[in-house]
Amino acid sequence: MPKYIIRGGRPVTGRIQSLGAKNFATKAMVAALLADGTTRLINAPRIGDVEITCDMLEASGAKLDWSMPSTLAIDAANIRSAKVPVPDSGSNRIPILLLGVLLHRLGEAHVPVVSGCNIGARPVDFHLEAAKMFGAHITVSDTGYHAVRKGRLKACHYRLPYPSVGATESCLFLGVLAEGTSIIENVATEPEIIALITMLNAMGARVQLMPNRELIIQGVDRLYGTSFEVLGDRIEAASWAALAAATDGDITVEGIDPSTLINFFGPFNAVGGGVEIEGAKSIRFFRRQPLKSTVIETDVFPGFATDWQQPFAVMLTQASGASIIHETVYERRFDYLAALSALGARTQIETHCLGSLECRFRGHDFPHSAIILGPTPLRSAGLTLDVPDLRAGLAYVMAAALAEGETTITSIARIERGYGNLIERTRGLSLAIGAG
Ligand code: EPZ
Repeated sequence: MPKYIIRGGRPVTGRIQSLGAKNFATKAMVAALLADGTTRLINAPRIGDVEITCDMLEASGAKLDWSMPSTLAIDAANIRSAKVPVPDSGSNRIPILLLGVLLHRLGEAHVPVVSGCNIGARPVDFHLEAAKMFGAHITVSDTGYHAVRKGRLKACHYRLPYPSVGATESCLFLGVLAEGTSIIENVATEPEIIALITMLNAMGARVQLMPNRELIIQGVDRLYGTSFEVLGDRIEAASWAALAAATDGDITVEGIDPSTLINFFGPFNAVGGGVEIEGAKSIRFFRRQPLKSTVIETDVFPGFATDWQQPFAVMLTQASGASIIHETVYERRFDYLAALSALGARTQIETHCLGSLECRFRGHDFPHSAIILGPTPLRSAGLTLDVPDLRAGLAYVMAAALAEGETTITSIARIERGYGNLIERTRGLSLAIGAG
C-alpha cells in the first residue's frame, strides 16, 4: 500500500498552490445535474472524492469531460438512472445529496446508506425530514433510501434542527425546482454554501440568503448550465498556515480567498502566527512571536471551523501553556490526538464542555474537549501513523514534519481523497516527503 515517509524537525518554507475545495466541487457537481444542459466547473480538483462523485454522476447518465485544462464539463441532458451506486471508498456524503436532485429529474431516487469520515455518528435524518417536507415519500431498507414523488415537489417551510452544511445543501437542491416559495430556517452559511447559492442563482434559480440564517427559495421551472469557478480549500490553507507557525517556517499559499479564512486569522494571530496578504488570492503565513496557548471552540460558520481544529492542535503542541479545544460540531473528533501523543505531545481528552458555547453534547459523555500542554518537542524514531480520516491525515503530515526523525504515514488514500498527491503538490515546499 502506498505510504508517505517524512523526515521532520526543520522549518517548512516555500509556496504551495491550493486545490479547489472538495467540499464545494463535489456539491457543485451534484448541482450541475439540476440543469438540462452543460455546466463547466473551472479549477475542479482531480482528487479521490471528485472521481467518486464522477462515478455517481456517470451512473445516472451524465456525460463528463475533463479535456479542458482544470475544467470539468458535466452534460446532464440525459439523466436516466435513479439508482446511486455505493461509493468505492465506502464512506462519502454525496449520495444523500443526490436524493433531491434525482427526485426532480426522474421522479424517484434510490441512494445507498452513507457514512463519512469516522468522527461521529453523522446521521442523515435532517436530509430525509427535509425531503418529506417537500412532499417526497421515503422508504428505508437495508440497502438505502428510496424516494418517490407524486407530481412536482412542493415548497415548504422547514427549520433545520441544527445548521448542518449537508442538510442546507439538500434543502437548496429540493427547493430550487419545487413549486412555490420555500422558507428554510437555521441554515449553514459556510463559504462553500455561499458559493453554491451563487452558482444555483447563476443557473437561473431564485435563492435569497436572509439575515438570521434564513433562505427564501422561489422555485423555478428549469435551470440552465453555467460556468463556475471552484473556490480554494480554506481548510487546507489553514493547515499550511499552522505548519508554518508550528515549525517556525514561512509558507505562502496561492489560490485562496483570504475572506474564507476570516475567523481563522484571529486565533492564529493570538497564538503567535503572522499573516501577510500578498495579493487577491495569495497569503503568506509565518511565526511572528513565540507561540502561546489559547482556547478554541469550534462552531458552524462564521465560527472556528471544526476542520481547522486538527492542524491547529498540532501547532498548539508548540505553544507554551495549556490550550483548550472545545469541539461542538462532532461528538468524537479527537481520536487523532493519540498519534500526536505517540510523537511526544501531552494531551488529555475530556467529556465535559470546556468552553462557553452552548453545545449539543453537554451531559452526554462524548469525548469532545481536549487539553494540550506545550511546548513539547515532537520526535519520531521510525513511527508509523495510520490515517483515520482526511483532516486528521493532513495533521499527521504536519506532526511528522515537526517531529525530529522519520515518520511513515499509511492509509494515505484517505488524505489524497481530498488533497491529491501531496508528494507532487508540496514540491515548492521544503517538506521532506517521499513515497514508501
Ligand atoms: C460537511 O459535512 C463537510 N463535508 C465536513 O467536512 C465538515 O466537517 C462539516 O460539513 C461541517 O463543516 C462535506 O462537505 C463533504 P454537517 P456534513 O451536516 O455536511 C449533525 C471533511 O473532511 N447532523 O454540517 O456531513 C452531524 O452529525 C468533512 O471534508 C445530524 O445530526 O456536516 C454533525 O454533528 C469532515 N443530522 C453536525 O450535524 C443530519 O441529518 C454537522 O454536520 C445532518 C447532520
